[in-house]
Amino acid sequence: MCGIIGYIGEGDVAEFLVKGLKRLEYRGYDSAGISLIAGGLISTVKCGGNISKLEKKLEKVEFKDAKLGIGHTRWATHGEPTDENAHPHTSCKDEIAIAHNGIIENYKTLKKMLMDKGHAFKSDTDSEVIAHLIEEFYDGDLESAVARAVKSIEGAYAIASIHKSEDRIVVACKSSPIVIGFGDGAMFIASDAAALVGNTNKVVYLSDGEIASVMCDRIHVRKLNGESVNKQVKRLDASLSDVEKGGFKHFMLKEIFEQPESLSNLIRGRVRGNSVKLTLNVNLNSVSRIIIIACGTSWHSAIIGKYIIENLIRVPVEVDYASEFKYRNPIIGRGDLVIAISQSGETADTIGAVRAAKQKGARVIGIVNVVGSTISREVDGGIYLRAGPEISVASTKAFTSQVLALLLFALYARQARGGVADNQLLNEITDLPNMVDRVLDNAKIVERIAEDLAQKRNFLYLGRGINYPVALEGALKLKEISYIHAEGYPAGEMKHGPIALIDEGFPVVFISPKDGLYDKVVSNMEEVKARKAIVIAVINEIDENVRQVADYIIEVPKTSPLVSPIINVIPLQLLAYYIADLKGVDVDRPRNLAKSVTVE
Ligand code: F6R
Repeated sequence: MCGIIGYIGEGDVAEFLVKGLKRLEYRGYDSAGISLIAGGLISTVKCGGNISKLEKKLEKVEFKDAKLGIGHTRWATHGEPTDENAHPHTSCKDEIAIAHNGIIENYKTLKKMLMDKGHAFKSDTDSEVIAHLIEEFYDGDLESAVARAVKSIEGAYAIASIHKSEDRIVVACKSSPIVIGFGDGAMFIASDAAALVGNTNKVVYLSDGEIASVMCDRIHVRKLNGESVNKQVKRLDASLSDVEKGGFKHFMLKEIFEQPESLSNLIRGRVRGNSVKLTLNVNLNSVSRIIIIACGTSWHSAIIGKYIIENLIRVPVEVDYASEFKYRNPIIGRGDLVIAISQSGETADTIGAVRAAKQKGARVIGIVNVVGSTISREVDGGIYLRAGPEISVASTKAFTSQVLALLLFALYARQARGGVADNQLLNEITDLPNMVDRVLDNAKIVERIAEDLAQKRNFLYLGRGINYPVALEGALKLKEISYIHAEGYPAGEMKHGPIALIDEGFPVVFISPKDGLYDKVVSNMEEVKARKAIVIAVINEIDENVRQVADYIIEVPKTSPLVSPIINVIPLQLLAYYIADLKGVDVDRPRNLAKSVTVE
């Protein structure tokens, strides 16, 4: 949520900042801006709207001899997305500029204190107090002033700051990431490593409570108490093709089509013959209950995980919204294992839930995509998804990888607890990339269905058992990117209420693989057909019953029930994508949303 970029070194600073902001635009796109030090002064250009609007504004500006600068792309929390509320924010005397991600919870108190001291504010944001605080504490050393400022702040922050007379960028973070990249005679700063790909593969991740001075050839990192920290330089394993569209119209479509590869990356080295190898740092023999915490799409994979784990190891699993878990004083005991699922590893609700679970003494493992993210650093162990950067706000490849990671976890736990290997499942897992390829080969069929249905105002998605969460995920994908109202429901629950919605022409998507519940789901199809609904059926093989009731059929390969969600969700991702694209909306950057929700 929101993106920060920074650059110090030779070359066109403004150009680098804008390029970086474009890479970060998926984190927020309400407003954007940059501040550079040029000719001993701070020069700021910012505006409401997206980066292309900022670029237009920049056409008329020249930054002479700029050597460093910071930039920001915003997802509004406090204050509307106007020019004034866009970052960077400057202090009264325009000597300091800051870009901030996160929320300053005590900003009202700080703002009043600063106004009493004569500070005049230019925006409605919480972030602006940081610029004024730094100015208040500044006595010739930006690093010390930032350290004093962040000690006064309550809440989450990633801050990049500059002072007109200093040749460095000072960054600090707590519960919101900052990564520093090492270039040749230049240094880079970003809130997300994806923005640095192609510029450097040597990075340092700042930890909570650390502050760093970034000069053009070195960094100095210390804790807030002044103690120096020796940071380990890490390798950034991503290439330009991971963060560019590569010929696809949108990142979402590219990421849907990347799923055969993302799934095989996850499996590689982890499925060997008839066993699964993971390094979890947790003794699974003593686990008597599992609690999975996650948000949004990751929460849907968590519900699928409940079916998988309970089925394979017969240990009870609870699934909680991370945003609820922390505040309901959950009962956690010695035999409990908590699994946190998060693509970004930076979701504030999930981080909060992980910390609450750890505080209560639970062992916590993470299923995370972004390497080095906060959750990945705070858990006892876990599984990296290796899905590569997911740029589109709507999650697709991370979802299928999360489900596969849960399958691998359950099979591994089964082994660890002395259970027999499930060879059929293991074979299907190895064959998954091929099966997903076959589903993707039918994308054109889904596109044609989308053409017929794109003007509908409501959709219902129905599935049963392990495919009920797939219905939830299909509905979420459609509503978040096309703004069409969609609901997911367990098919058996339809008769208890939602059937009242059905009338002529109402589209109902059924996820109906050939499993033990197939006949019941076909009966549900008949019930809605009797009310003249439009039936779209995702099925394994066409039979006479389905042919008679379904208006549209999408055939997918048959698998064991525990593997089926990974296959069945793909046509639903495609359906949402094509409908949204036909509506002409910004598929990768749906309104009001941002990738990685770093506020509670
Ligand atoms: C939907 C979507 C969101 C995220 C949710 C959690 O397509 O992407 O619902 O799944 O915000 O994000 P992570 O997985 O990063 O914790």
